[in-house]
Amino acid sequence: MEKYIINGGNKLYGSVKIQSAKNSVLPILAATVLADEKVEILNVPQISDVKNMVKILACLGCRTVYDGDSIVIDSSSADCYEIPSALARELRSSVFLLGAVISRFHSAKIAYPGGCDIGLRPVDLHLTGLKRLGVQISEKNGYIICKCDKLRGNEIMLDCPSVGATENIMLAAVKAEGTTIIKNAAREPEIEDLQNFLNKIGAKITGAGSGTIRIDGVKKLYGCEYLPIPDRIEAGTFLIGAAMCGGEVVADGIYPENISSLIHKLTENGCKININNDKIVLENHKILTSVKSVETRPYPGFPTDLQAQYTALCCICNGHSIITENLFETRFKYVPELRKMGADVTVIDRNAFVRGVEKFKGATVVAYDLRGGAALVLAALAGEGNSEVIDISHIDRGYGSFEYKLRKLGADIVRVTV
Ligand code: EPZ
Repeated sequence: MEKYIINGGNKLYGSVKIQSAKNSVLPILAATVLADEKVEILNVPQISDVKNMVKILACLGCRTVYDGDSIVIDSSSADCYEIPSALARELRSSVFLLGAVISRFHSAKIAYPGGCDIGLRPVDLHLTGLKRLGVQISEKNGYIICKCDKLRGNEIMLDCPSVGATENIMLAAVKAEGTTIIKNAAREPEIEDLQNFLNKIGAKITGAGSGTIRIDGVKKLYGCEYLPIPDRIEAGTFLIGAAMCGGEVVADGIYPENISSLIHKLTENGCKININNDKIVLENHKILTSVKSVETRPYPGFPTDLQAQYTALCCICNGHSIITENLFETRFKYVPELRKMGADVTVIDRNAFVRGVEKFKGATVVAYDLRGGAALVLAALAGEGNSEVIDISHIDRGYGSFEYKLRKLGADIVRVTV
């Protein structure tokens, strides 16, 4: 197991190059199963979720080659439709593979992806959507087994704008016979990125980013070279860290409009923010003013993936805040760890009631999930004294070279194997 040892109190200065978005690269990797020719994905983040997804593709018979920051996937020899359970359980978003594997093999078998670190993570909307396209689905001994003679386009109305369900249905529909319309589709930028990737290899999809997506089935999909969009959650994490520690940080290579909800909140907190093209500059040298309330919502609302990091910021603002988590049932697991660092936060149901304190104090804390772990790192960096953040494998799932990028900004953080 590995941990971070952090000596808090340093201000952060400098520029951080934002990685390609984890939540774009994962569904795009799943989509490569559909391509009949080689695909090269550029600037792939060095994170464990991506490494595990690539391992799954290799188990399906795809040829996968890392080439520096790129990865080349050749699925022409893919010959297996069973997603290995150990990897599927490791990587919850392996469920995105269902649509692509069914489209390719007209069969698919996957272990039921677990839930629990941030909520139940049901897949009912995924399965309902696939059934509407003609997939027969059975569930046996913890496995989801899918079969279909032919995928046929259909109209699908999602009960909620699920990112994963939208992506799964897109992947299953791209080579289906006829047209598929997804209504109440997720609007996240990563959905639009998946559409752009699929269209680049020959698909016919329109509407991603709006609530209604149209997919006209095609017969063949080709190869391409593709650069995914930058990671708005990584960028938001560094900007929140700069606001908490004080200093001046540039998030370089980001689409500012993709995190406008965070930018508005940080401005309300009193941060000075300048935007020019693909750079966001955040400067802060004072105690921040609290924002009365923040509610996580599907895009373009405040992202649930920045909820933990922003709650940590609220803990050292001057005043009270209420943070409401509307998407996941148990996404406040990091709060008891923040309290060990002196935070005054009480969680009741889906609300965190925060009373700002002057500073976090050094403590030994445990990361339980990806974004909660990142929030603990930010709290330790902004606090005074020494902290340890244990079990940082959760953080490695989504942040490449995290401590290296933070040290470049002046943070005192080292990774240690225990
Ligand atoms: C994606 O997860 C992201 N993961 C998550 O990021 C992100 O938090 C989430 O979207 C919301 O933006 C990837 O893209 C790999 P959902 P996903 O389906 O697709 C309910 C991170 O930290 N729901 O949009 O699993 C569900 O319970 C990760 O990078 C159903 O009810 O999220 C939740 O309340 C964490 N039935 C809501 O929808 C279903 O079949 C949103 O979930 C599916 C979802």
